[in-house]
Amino acid sequence: MLVNAADMLKKAEAGHYALGAFNTNNLEWTLALLQAAEEAKSPLIIQCTAGAAKWMGGFKVCADMVKAAVEATGVTVPVALHLDHGSYEDCFKAIEAGFTSIMYDGSHEETFQLNLDRTKELVELAHSKGISIEAEVGGIGGTEDGVTSNGELADPAECKQIADLGVDFLACGIGNIHGVYPEDWAGLSFDRLSEIKAEVGDLPLVLHGGSGIPEDQIKKAISMGVSKINVNTDLQLAFTAAVHDYFAAGKDTQGKGYDPRKVLKPGRDAIVERTKELMEQFGSLNKA
Ligand code: 13P
Repeated sequence: MLVNAADMLKKAEAGHYALGAFNTNNLEWTLALLQAAEEAKSPLIIQCTAGAAKWMGGFKVCADMVKAAVEATGVTVPVALHLDHGSYEDCFKAIEAGFTSIMYDGSHEETFQLNLDRTKELVELAHSKGISIEAEVGGIGGTEDGVTSNGELADPAECKQIADLGVDFLACGIGNIHGVYPEDWAGLSFDRLSEIKAEVGDLPLVLHGGSGIPEDQIKKAISMGVSKINVNTDLQLAFTAAVHDYFAAGKDTQGKGYDPRKVLKPGRDAIVERTKELMEQFGSLNKA
């Protein structure tokens, strides 16, 4: 059974570790993430953007697939299914489809007031259904699902206003960006992180763009109150490199090497291994 992500992140915040929130792209990804979490005995947040859900055939296909995979594999660790960077409209669709957690990304709304109003409405709706909710202040840089925003440092006073609406966890820009970090990236702003944490107390904070941040910065961010780290690009790179190697070695032309299950297996195995490494780095091993 899927659970919401509120309790597992509260425990992570109190225990000074973080949970990876890993984006799924398809069935192979989902099964690999479940296997990794079970082997690592780590709670798991599987998340999905509207774009990835569309690729799979819609939010309902994604939710039904994840639920069925959890049941069929019999995993014992808690698993939440979270909407990643949902628009206002996406949030209603994901809730209807059976997601147990949503992110309303109001950072692209025309005004901060609209972000506030819609977050308030969605907090009430989500909580009335036992669903956890993440909100965002300050755009995260980079490009995701065609949406590009400049990396921002979130305003601590705005973070407090959104936190006070009762969100379960909060994404705030601290210099992080989605995708591969450029060579000249300035790094995370720990000053801003500490100012935000001082405003929001024990509310778990979310670090988006978790791929490719140096380990010392990840560990410092966790020690300062980051409890959820979003990872997508890192696993995409691991998957693609492994499948690339399969073709580069000519394995697709040997025997029944053209079988898609054989082609995708190295990618799926690579996701399992990399996810476990990240869980260890984030400190969530044996926390289930
Ligand atoms: P990366 O693709 O950079 O890992 O970012 C993922 C993310 O933040 C999803 O919300």
